[in-house]
Amino acid sequence: METNERLAKFREVLTENRLDGFLVTNKKNIYYLSGFAGSSGYLLISAQGEAYLFTDFRYEEYAAALASRFVPRIQKGEPYAELKATVQSLAQGAGFRKLGVDAAHMTLKTHELLGKGLDGSAGILPGEDPCYKLRQIKDENELALMRASMKIADETLLRMKEYIRPGITEKEAAEELEATFKRLGAEGPSFETIAAAGKRSSMPHGQPTDNVIAEGDLVTLDFGCVVGGYASDQTRTFVMGSPDAKQERIYRLVLQAQEAAIAAAAPGRSTREIDRVARDIITGEGYGDNFGHGLGHSLGLDIHEDPRFSPITEDRILEPNMVLTVEPGIYLPGWGGIRIEDVVVITGGGCENITRSPKTLEFMTVMT
Ligand code: GLY
Ligand code: MN
Ligand code: MN
Repeated sequence: METNERLAKFREVLTENRLDGFLVTNKKNIYYLSGFAGSSGYLLISAQGEAYLFTDFRYEEYAAALASRFVPRIQKGEPYAELKATVQSLAQGAGFRKLGVDAAHMTLKTHELLGKGLDGSAGILPGEDPCYKLRQIKDENELALMRASMKIADETLLRMKEYIRPGITEKEAAEELEATFKRLGAEGPSFETIAAAGKRSSMPHGQPTDNVIAEGDLVTLDFGCVVGGYASDQTRTFVMGSPDAKQERIYRLVLQAQEAAIAAAAPGRSTREIDRVARDIITGEGYGDNFGHGLGHSLGLDIHEDPRFSPITEDRILEPNMVLTVEPGIYLPGWGGIRIEDVVVITGGGCENITRSPKTLEFMTVMT
């Protein structure tokens, strides 16, 4: 049976963890390992033997096309009957005793169902699906898709600068933005587009409403699309008309914090250290309490992945080919908010910013 690099690495982790096999149930992990994107199915990867794809009648031909790497098993009876039969036959034949399952994903109900069905032939061990760690380091194919996804986001931002003006609503802005993604060839948005104008921009994840954009407003657009399954993520804050002194001061502060963090991001440095670079700059000007979220997060097949730039999540050392957002913001209830978000790829000696959209205050100023 053919294998590939991802599957080979996955099996190495199983062997290190002394597992005989793993049940992959998270759809993104299934796609990552196999390319299968059907709505129902899971993978059983044995450490030493075959890899199986379990799915149903609707995907029989799809599964057959992947058969050089995954033995197809079409489910016909009760839930998990074919899986249980496969595990039981592996247990009899090859001393298959420990089956890992994804603790972050499997429901208690499925766990119970499987446990009963295996009748002691193999034990179920909830743990971390090795895919989550493997996905943190992107390969060249993934990076190419992420660049393509960001390129569409960049072009969309340029078009939004022409579209956005006082008189349109947040909802209209979000709809135009998502329609542009489609016109440019994206599969769709990578998350619900955020568009928040005026005082509403103090809500970091303000959902678009019928609020009409007015002269003098800050307008935050946070958006991303999906290309080949991979997400982009970008935030820009426009000002409708010449910024006042406070808008200008806070805009420049957020930009300064973001640029300092990007300049600092490099392999060998830690995620908390990079968060602190931006946070210290913002705190130094008295706005620490108004920057209430982490500096950024990884992304890829999911919009939010680990590791994170955050003062509270696990501190991690950056490695080449990790991809993270850098997105400081300052939010002042009753006034508004400003966030600027780019995506960087950690390289051998620093990082590369793959977001090309302009972000100077001059560019973000929409003359009305
Ligand atoms: N798009 C949500 C975020 O920036 O994390
Ligand atoms: Mn975002
Ligand atoms: Mn983000």
